[in-house]
Amino acid sequence: MYQIIDGKKISQEIKDELKEQVAQLKAEGKSRCLAVVQVGNDPASGVYVNNKKKACEYIGIDSLSYELPEETNEEELLKLIGELNTREDVNGILVQLPVPKHIDEEKILLAIAPEKDVDGFHPVNVGNLSIGRPGYVSCTPAGIIQLLKRSGIEIEGKECVVLGRSNIVGKPMAMLLLRENGTVTVCHSRTKNLKEITKRADILVAAIGKPKFIDASYVKEGAVVIDVGIHRNENNKLCGDVDFDSVAPHCSAITPVPGGVGPMTIAMLMNNCVNGVL
Ligand code: GUN
Repeated sequence: MYQIIDGKKISQEIKDELKEQVAQLKAEGKSRCLAVVQVGNDPASGVYVNNKKKACEYIGIDSLSYELPEETNEEELLKLIGELNTREDVNGILVQLPVPKHIDEEKILLAIAPEKDVDGFHPVNVGNLSIGRPGYVSCTPAGIIQLLKRSGIEIEGKECVVLGRSNIVGKPMAMLLLRENGTVTVCHSRTKNLKEITKRADILVAAIGKPKFIDASYVKEGAVVIDVGIHRNENNKLCGDVDFDSVAPHCSAITPVPGGVGPMTIAMLMNNCVNGVL
């Protein structure tokens, strides 16, 4: 029998712990405030931003919301970030991605003060993670480490295989697993003999962005499988990068989609807002 790693439950536990911490901070006269910036009205971004604001409210973090029109230019957005950087009452800044095409995303991420970069996307924070210094860590991979730890899954000495090398998930995931003393391999679209590598994994993290790509033939018997993907299948139902029904019977533990990794991203964002660096 396999264990289903319940991201909904674990993220709720984390949010409840944070709520207590924020109440304690408030009693000491300290507050936390996240500024959320969205440019344009991409519907998916709208849902994410709303969920982030709701999570702030639940935990007791103040939030400032900036919903800027699609036509906003780079200069205007940089000016707002500059102002938020200097505001003492704001301790976290998040610019929802993607930004419209006429704005240079890299320039925006570089403009956010590293000490307020609760997404962990600024090169200073990415660099700190890679050399083992404290810094903000990208929320999805940080959430995956929490899922593993809080499910009693040991990482030390394990063969960890990460599928995908994005800046937001794959690369920071590899760094975090290394920090936990895992033996880490990163695979990507140009990897040869992919199955040979994934079949070695004690812990397999799938973040490739292809619906149901990973079936049982990629997975070692008894492996832990973490699914970062989120897609809609032909029946408009949510599914991940992993073909759950095919893979689950061969696992010791697996995350479902929805209700696995997804809810952890916001919980870890909230953690970054409350606790600062990891
Ligand atoms: N767009 C999709 N995921 C994210 C995220 O984690 N942070 C930001 N800022 N934008 C996103």
